[in-house]
Amino acid sequence: MAETTAPAYKIIDHTYDTVVVGAGGSGLRATMGSAEAGLKTACITKVFPTRSHTVAAQGGIAASLGNNTPDHWTWHMYDTVKGSDWLGDQDAIEYMVREAPQAVIELEHAGVPFSRNPEGTIYQRPFGGHMQNMGEGPPVQRTCAAADRTGHAMLHALYQQSLKYDADFYIEYFAIDLIMVNGECKGVIAMCMDDGSIHRFRAHAVVLATGGYGRSYFTATSAHTCTGDGGGMVLRAGLPLQDMEFVQFHPTGIYGAGVLITEGARGEGGYLTNSEGERFMERYAPSAKDLASRDVVSRSMALEIREGRGVGPHKDHIFLHLDHIDPNVLAERLPGITESGKIFAGVDLTKQPLPVVPTVHYNMGGIPCNYHGQVVTIGADGDPETVVPGLYAVGEAACVSVHGANRLGSNSLIDLVVFGRATGHHLKDNIKPGTAHDNLPKDSADFALSRLDHFRYAKGGSPTAVIRDEMQRCMSAHAAVFRTDESMAEGKEKLAATYKKMEDISVADTSLIWNSDLIETMELDNLISQASVTMHSAFNRKESRGAHAHEDYPERNDAEWMKHTASWFDGWGGKGGGVKLDYRPVHEFTLTDDVDYIKPKKRVY
Ligand code: FUM
Repeated sequence: MAETTAPAYKIIDHTYDTVVVGAGGSGLRATMGSAEAGLKTACITKVFPTRSHTVAAQGGIAASLGNNTPDHWTWHMYDTVKGSDWLGDQDAIEYMVREAPQAVIELEHAGVPFSRNPEGTIYQRPFGGHMQNMGEGPPVQRTCAAADRTGHAMLHALYQQSLKYDADFYIEYFAIDLIMVNGECKGVIAMCMDDGSIHRFRAHAVVLATGGYGRSYFTATSAHTCTGDGGGMVLRAGLPLQDMEFVQFHPTGIYGAGVLITEGARGEGGYLTNSEGERFMERYAPSAKDLASRDVVSRSMALEIREGRGVGPHKDHIFLHLDHIDPNVLAERLPGITESGKIFAGVDLTKQPLPVVPTVHYNMGGIPCNYHGQVVTIGADGDPETVVPGLYAVGEAACVSVHGANRLGSNSLIDLVVFGRATGHHLKDNIKPGTAHDNLPKDSADFALSRLDHFRYAKGGSPTAVIRDEMQRCMSAHAAVFRTDESMAEGKEKLAATYKKMEDISVADTSLIWNSDLIETMELDNLISQASVTMHSAFNRKESRGAHAHEDYPERNDAEWMKHTASWFDGWGGKGGGVKLDYRPVHEFTLTDDVDYIKPKKRVY
C-alpha cells in the first residue's frame, strides 16, 4: 500500500453508501432517490441547495402531458432528436421523454406549485422547437411552468423531500478531487469553506451533479458558481469528457448584463425585431419563427447584427417585444422577467422592448454516461461503453447524450429530474444499504491535498482574476456562435498560453477560513481544462451541426461526423496541458420497439 506524501492536513472521515456532489435539480433528485431507497446518503454542495443554479431556470420543464394541446411522447422524442441535430442517443432520448410525464407528476406530488389551467391541470406553454405531429406543427404546449420561477420551485420541493428521507447535507463544502483506486471511484475529498477543515467521503457511489462550466466565457446566463467542478475532477482522474464543442447560446440574455430572459417570453407571444422594426425570424424560420430552436434563433440574431441591422448606438443587439401582451398576463405568467427587465435593463417591458443578445447558457457536452447515470469511458479494449465503477453523473455536468448538438428549451429541467431519478433507481438496485467498504490506500487524499496546498501557497506574478479574464475573453472571441478554422486555431494557441500562466499564479490569502481567492483558483483550474478541450474539440469538428456553426464547413456531414467527441486533458495548474481526442459512436437505435429510429434529415423550422 502506498505511503502518504501529502502535506499535513488533518482529515475528517465520513462513510456513506452514496455521496452526491452538487445540490441543483439533478443532485437533489438523485439525493432524494438514494435516501428514499434507504441508502445512507450525503449531499455535498458549495452553495445552499436552494441557491443552486437551477434556481435560475425560468420557463419550465418539458413533458408530453397534453394539458393545453394534444401531445404524445413520440412527438417529444422527434423534436428532441431533431433539436439535437441527430447527435443525441435515441435510446436515452426515448427513455427521457417516456419517463417525463411521470417525473413531472411526482414533482407535483412532491410539492412543486405549478401554474394551473382553469380546470386545475398543470399549465403548459409553448417553447422553441417543440411541435405537434412529429415536427409538422403547429407548436405544442409542452412546457410545464410555475410562472417563470420553475427551477426555484423545484429546488425547494426537492430539498424538502431529501430532508424528509434523512439525507445529510454538507453545505458550503467544496469538492476538490475524486478518490480513484485502480480505475474505480471510492469517494471524494472536500473542504469545508467555513473553517477550512478537510473531509474524506468514502462511498460506494459518487454522483457528480456539479452543473456546467458556463463561466469559462466572458458573458453567460450561468451563475458565477457554474465552474464545472465535476468535469474538472473527471479530467484530472484521466477520464474523458464528451461533445464539449457544443455550447448553447440562449437568444435572449439581457444586453450588457447577461441575465436570462426566458424563452417562455416568446412562448407567451413575444417576438424579436431588428433596427428596421422587422420581425426577421419570419425570414429564417418561416414556420416556427421566433419559436425555432435556440441555435437557429441565436444564429439569425448574430447575422442580423453582423449585417448592420442590430439596434442601439453600436447596432450590437436586438429588441424583444412583450409590450403588446396584456400586462395582467405578464404579471401572472412572467413576473420574474418583468422584474429583471426593470433591474438589469431599466425597461418597463409592458411599454418598451427589451435589449437582448445571444448569451452563453448551457453546455450540451459533459461527463459521458448512460441513461442509468453511470459514467462511461472508452476502455482499453476500445469498448466505448466501458462503465467506470462507482461513478455517476447527472444534469448539466453529464452528457447522456439526450441533447446532442443542441438542447431544446425546457428539456434541461426534465433531463435533471428524469436522470436524477434514474440514478436513484440504479443505486437502489445495485447497492445494499450499509455494505462494508474496502480499506482505502494510505495515499487516497494525497493528490487532492497536494493540489490544494500548491494553490494555497502559490506566489507567482499572475492573479487568478487576470488569468480567468484572459480565458473568458478568449472563449468568447474564438469559440463563439460562428466559428472558423482560423479563429479556433488562434483560440487554441491563446488558450494554451493562458493555461501556462497558471504555473505563475498568485494566491494572496493563505488562510483556510472563507478563502475565496483559493476557491476561485481551484474553480479556474476546473474551468480552464474544460475550456481547452472545448476549443480543441471544436477545432477538430469539420462540419456544422447544432450549436457548432463552422463557417468553413457550413453543412452537417453525417457520413464523417455523426459521432461523439471524447476529449482528455493532461495536467492541472499550468503543468502539461495536452489534449487528446477520440470519437465514440452515436446510438443509432431506440430503447424499445415501440418507436422506430428517427432517420437523419435536413433540419428546417
Ligand atoms: O428560457 C428558459 O426559460 C430556459 C430554459 C432552459 O434553458 O431550458
